[in-house]
Amino acid sequence: MRVTHLSGMKSFKIGNIEIKLPIIQGGMGVGISLSGLASAVANEGGVGVISCAGLGLLYKRSSGDFWENCIWGLKEELRKAREKTQGVIGVNIMVALTNFSDMVRTSIAEKVDVIFAGAGLPLDLPSYLNKESTTKLVPIVSSSRAAQIICDKWKNSYNYLPDAIVVEGPKAGGHLGFKKNQISDELYSLEHILPEVIKVANGYKETKNIPVIAAGGISSGKDIYRFLEMGASGVQMGSIFVPTDECDADIKFKNTYITANEGDMRIIQSPVGMPGRAIDGEFIRNVETGSEKPKSCPFHCIKTCDYTQSPYCIIQALYQAAKGNMKKGYAFAGLNAHFAEKINSVKEVIALLKADYRTALISYS
Ligand SMILES: Cc1cc2nc3c(=O)[nH]c(=O)nc-3n(C[C@H](O)[C@H](O)[C@H](O)COP(=O)(O)O)c2cc1C
Repeated sequence: MRVTHLSGMKSFKIGNIEIKLPIIQGGMGVGISLSGLASAVANEGGVGVISCAGLGLLYKRSSGDFWENCIWGLKEELRKAREKTQGVIGVNIMVALTNFSDMVRTSIAEKVDVIFAGAGLPLDLPSYLNKESTTKLVPIVSSSRAAQIICDKWKNSYNYLPDAIVVEGPKAGGHLGFKKNQISDELYSLEHILPEVIKVANGYKETKNIPVIAAGGISSGKDIYRFLEMGASGVQMGSIFVPTDECDADIKFKNTYITANEGDMRIIQSPVGMPGRAIDGEFIRNVETGSEKPKSCPFHCIKTCDYTQSPYCIIQALYQAAKGNMKKGYAFAGLNAHFAEKINSVKEVIALLKADYRTALISYS
């Protein structure tokens, strides 16, 4: 049974886990969504998500190498999150990460509630589960084709179907699963691809209920209302949670959201071979004018990264930005991130979303 939240939004289930408030905080690396932000969102009844990208840069132990430090960092972040919340905590693991397997194995062993896996097709994800596992598996896709391929592969090879599917449209922040020319093409809009992914999920409804979660550019309660009315069970929001007290990034990173204008929202070509959406700044302009010079590749942390051609190391650039060193990096952000006016608490952000959702519910019903 779906329980109606005070705001009017309905709860939904990912496997046997009830999500009281149907808002998932999108995982944001490097170091933007860690235990601080994730636990604050989980405490409000949503799903808080820790990003696994680059944890070894944030957790430097002289005794360990980058890969060992990533594992240690993930365990530490999960421990900290559990100290602060009893709510639902997920991790975001990019398939393109070289240490994808390490991060998945650690998450399952630590009994993380949900793994969200995107930036590539997580075709072998169920192979990591064993009889004792409680972790739910949720792929992130940008097309119904990808959703279908994943469902077919998981069902045929592992007799497992996704516990939910996130469909991320082209207005999202960070790396985008679209070609540059598709980003502003209506045919690839979230409004267009969401019903197609729901159709794929519904194709399995005799076997399993697969809730679909809409993401990318969702920035108000009215937006949430619209996508839930279209059949999504929940929404995933990233950028709206950056300018908050609890977001784990430096204040200078958060302030780039507050000061950004519509015209500052940029599509860049990321070294990992995908377009990305970010806020314009000195570093991006230096890359474009050729004054950022190729650096050595310290870890080869992303499988698809063309580090021999790239003028910069993306993991270092994102890490520098998270620390507030905006001359050495840039802030990924969704198309609507520039709407942010001030830094609020997560509680305030969610209260505003609920009030706005309620207004939409009353005026459209
Ligand atoms: C700063 C930033 C970092 C992100 N990092 C990741 C990441 O590491 N892995 C991932 O799957 N998505 C990442 N994303 C995408 C978000 O999880 C989320 O799905 C997306 O931003 C939703 O769009 P919105 O920001 O418009 O709400 C990132 C987004 C932002 C803004």
